[in-house]
Amino acid sequence: MSACAIPVVPEVHPAVLRRHSPMLFDSGATISDAAVDTILDAGRLAPSAGNSQPWAFVVGRRGDAVHTRIVRHLAGSSARWAPGASMIVVNLARVLLDDSDAIYSDFAHYDLGQAVAHMTLQALSIGVDAHQFRAFDQDAVAAEFDVPREWEVTTMTAFGVAAHSPGAVVGVSRERRERDEVTWARA
Ligand SMILES: Cc1cc2nc3c(=O)[nH]c(=O)nc-3n(C[C@H](O)[C@H](O)[C@H](O)COP(=O)(O)O)c2cc1C
Repeated sequence: MSACAIPVVPEVHPAVLRRHSPMLFDSGATISDAAVDTILDAGRLAPSAGNSQPWAFVVGRRGDAVHTRIVRHLAGSSARWAPGASMIVVNLARVLLDDSDAIYSDFAHYDLGQAVAHMTLQALSIGVDAHQFRAFDQDAVAAEFDVPREWEVTTMTAFGVAAHSPGAVVGVSRERRERDEVTWARA
C-alpha cells in the first residue's frame, strides 16, 4: 500500500509546490506540542549515512525561555522577521566523533540538511510554513547552549504561519534554474 495518494498524472507534491520561505510570519499564530513533536519526528526519521543520525535540535517557541535565548543572537536581517514565527529551531550537525579531530561522518551536513527538509515538508503537511536561515551568530549560539565542539551550530529554521503569499514580500530571488539546466545527463 502506498503511503500517499497517487495522482493519475505525475505531479509535484502540493507541499513542495506550496513551500516558500516567508519573509513575514503571523506573530499571533502558535504551534501546539503535538505539532512540534511531529516536526521533530519527521527529522528524526530521515535517512542518514550508515544511520549515523548526525543531527540535534534546540527548540524555542515564541514566548518561552529557549526562544528568548535564541533570538538574542539573530543577525539584524533575521531579527526583523524570525522572532514573529511560532517557533525557531536551531539545527546542529555532529561533525566530530569525540573531542579529538576525528570526523564523525563525511555526510553530516548532507544528512542534517535532509532531516531539515523532512521537517519542512512535514510542517507544510500540517499547515506550518518554514524558513531556513543562517543569519545569526553561530559561535554565540553554541556558547549560549553549551554546544561542545563535536557539534556545529549550522542553521536555524523558523516555523509558523506565513503572513504573505509566496514571493509577495521580496527577499532573495526565488527564480529557479530550469529542469534541463539541472539535469547533467538523461537519455
Ligand atoms: C542553508 C540555507 C541558508 C539560508 N539562509 C538564509 C538567511 O540567512 N536569510 C534569509 O532570509 N534566507 C535564508 N535562506 C532562505 C533562502 O534564501 C531561500 O530558500 C531561497 O531564496 C529560495 O526561496 P524559497 O525558499 O522561498 O523558495 C537560507 C536557506 C538555506 C537552505
